[in-house]
Amino acid sequence: MGDRANTHSDPAKRAAELRDALRRHEHLYYVLDAPEISDTQYDALINELKRIEDAHPDLLTPDSPTQRVGGKPADGFKKVRHSRPMLSLDNAYSAEELADWDRRVRDLAGNLPVEYTTELKLDGLSVALRYEPAEKDGARLTTGITRGDGQIGEDVTTNIRTIRSVPLSISAETLKKAGLPQGFEVRGEVVMPEAAFLLLNEEREQQGLPPAVNPRNAAAGTLRTLEPSIVANRRLAFYAYFLLVDGEYWPQGQAATLDALTTLGFRVNPHRGRVDSVDDMMRFIDAAEAKRATLGYEIDGVVLKVDSHAAQLRLGYTGRAPRWAIAYKFTAKSGITQVRAISVNVGRTGKLTPVAELTPVFIGGTTVSRATLHNADFIERLGLLVGDWVRVERGGDVIPKVAEVIEDADHPRGTVRFAFPKVCPECQSEVVRVEGEVDYRCVNVDCPAKLRESLLHFGRRGVMNIEGLGDAVVQQLLDRGLVHSVADLYALTEEQLAALDRFAEKSAHALFEEIKKSKQAGLARLLMGQGVRFVGERTAELLAQEFGSMDALAAASAEELERVEEVGPRISQAILEFFAQPANLALIQSLRDAGVIMTAEKKQRSSQLSGLTFVLTGTLPTLTRDEAKKKIEDAGGKTAGSVSKKTSYVVAGEEAGSKLDKALQLKVPVLDEAGLLALLASPSALH
Ligand code: IVH
Repeated sequence: MGDRANTHSDPAKRAAELRDALRRHEHLYYVLDAPEISDTQYDALINELKRIEDAHPDLLTPDSPTQRVGGKPADGFKKVRHSRPMLSLDNAYSAEELADWDRRVRDLAGNLPVEYTTELKLDGLSVALRYEPAEKDGARLTTGITRGDGQIGEDVTTNIRTIRSVPLSISAETLKKAGLPQGFEVRGEVVMPEAAFLLLNEEREQQGLPPAVNPRNAAAGTLRTLEPSIVANRRLAFYAYFLLVDGEYWPQGQAATLDALTTLGFRVNPHRGRVDSVDDMMRFIDAAEAKRATLGYEIDGVVLKVDSHAAQLRLGYTGRAPRWAIAYKFTAKSGITQVRAISVNVGRTGKLTPVAELTPVFIGGTTVSRATLHNADFIERLGLLVGDWVRVERGGDVIPKVAEVIEDADHPRGTVRFAFPKVCPECQSEVVRVEGEVDYRCVNVDCPAKLRESLLHFGRRGVMNIEGLGDAVVQQLLDRGLVHSVADLYALTEEQLAALDRFAEKSAHALFEEIKKSKQAGLARLLMGQGVRFVGERTAELLAQEFGSMDALAAASAEELERVEEVGPRISQAILEFFAQPANLALIQSLRDAGVIMTAEKKQRSSQLSGLTFVLTGTLPTLTRDEAKKKIEDAGGKTAGSVSKKTSYVVAGEEAGSKLDKALQLKVPVLDEAGLLALLASPSALH
């Protein structure tokens, strides 16, 4: 970041500097996976740039790193015709099929030498990104288009911009290095990494929404979201694999294309190779399959492409696919088995989940005897009857799923239509389906299944974190009538625990200590433990920080609740309803009586003052210089020894000397101690 003092007087120059630095750091982080600065430092840079752009709107450029997030919601997507059709690929499923293809390729290529590039087949959706000459020099991203029907796609530029591994602009120098003109098109795959997918489904579950089926659907749905800030949060990734100039493929061949894309700053999948025999293709394929589970994103095969452009031209196209490329598809590990029954699980919130009880079948190394059916709609969509034969798949992941109903001479259809129960299978009270929701719920507050699941949830990692409070223990505690609510956990004695089946004294002691320790988990975790609908980890944390105590939260109005980031009417309503239930208030009281902490340490949000530089001068009335400095730094601000134009605030006390004069001269805002404290309490008050 260097010395900024001498450039600060020229906001245009500083903005340009910041943009360059941010682009470099984005590339290091998102493309090369090798960050040089911390997230906080990155935030400080982007905040500084935002401030300059706010103060000088004329300096704002559409390719500025500040423009990735928070774009305006679109009101639909424009249709755009592709510069050349986005075709599909023919598939092969075996070495024999690859050998056939290789023979055809070599026949048609005649005297042209044939080599292949091998790439992973990423399970996402393909998009085309157009770059056009930027105002001064270089190129900038102008349009991002989905594949659509291959001829016409949808303009999803605002959403594409939020993907950090997509360069918004490319310098003239870089273009020169890659040997490209200012206008070109990049094609590749948008994928949702597994971690982002899991997070998304956790959120959806908390919101009472059905889970997204797989990362590809989730990525496709995300790209078609009309709210770019949502897209920005979903952390999509883009891997580039084609480069087109004037609607023609880059003439230097596929391997050189991938190199050029790397030079341009795109993320190119590192698992690639060059082969010239079917044996080597199979070696690459086997290695890819072996890596599949640990990649962190889904792949469904390997793509083989004839490397040379001359050979590609000679081979040409069939109607739907190039003859010069083929997809080797992994076959999902699947098995066929019979659905013996459909049972229904009751969750902590009373949600009823149908589960297929299967005749055990051995798939991909494990015996599968149950598979989730998600909800009534899912069963409906499959058209599943009890007694049906189904194909159960285990993909790269662990959870088996019912892929389809089989119907042929050997596998006659079942006969019994599954009727979703009208009463809870655990407590026989009525179940309801809330208008607009897919799930049925048991609404009995005393449902034993809910208690069991609540106890399990309460003890989970990330909630109250009580190690050792697993299925078997909880079931015994319930069977022995030792607990009737989560608060009863705190009344358990070591002797009671030691008396449980298969419990040694040592583990009883450990569990006892774990339960005791959990009293200190703090308000946010306790809120999660209560299972307030829609309140997940992040919301719980924000609520705890804002209100500081259970009492303050319980007393908050809808309006006050909605002042918290991420809390809208739906969440505020759920919180109000939660605190309106006498049973919940009684439980909170019991927890309080048991000594469970009901407050949160109000943490300083460390990015509060990020990007701001303070100079302290003179003697403050109550804080020492070091205390003031620590407070500023804890909140993400910086302190400096001397005043310059880049100083955000001077904090002046008694007998402030030349630094105060300098501040006045440079028109740097001056705060007293009270002003500093006010800024720390609410940074928006003064900006
Ligand atoms: S080449 C005309 N390369 O697979 C060439 N496609 O089944 C088609 N895909 O629509 C694209 N990884 O969405 C190519 N390394 C890769 C790929 C890849 C995934 C997808 C792409 C395409 C589909 C065809």
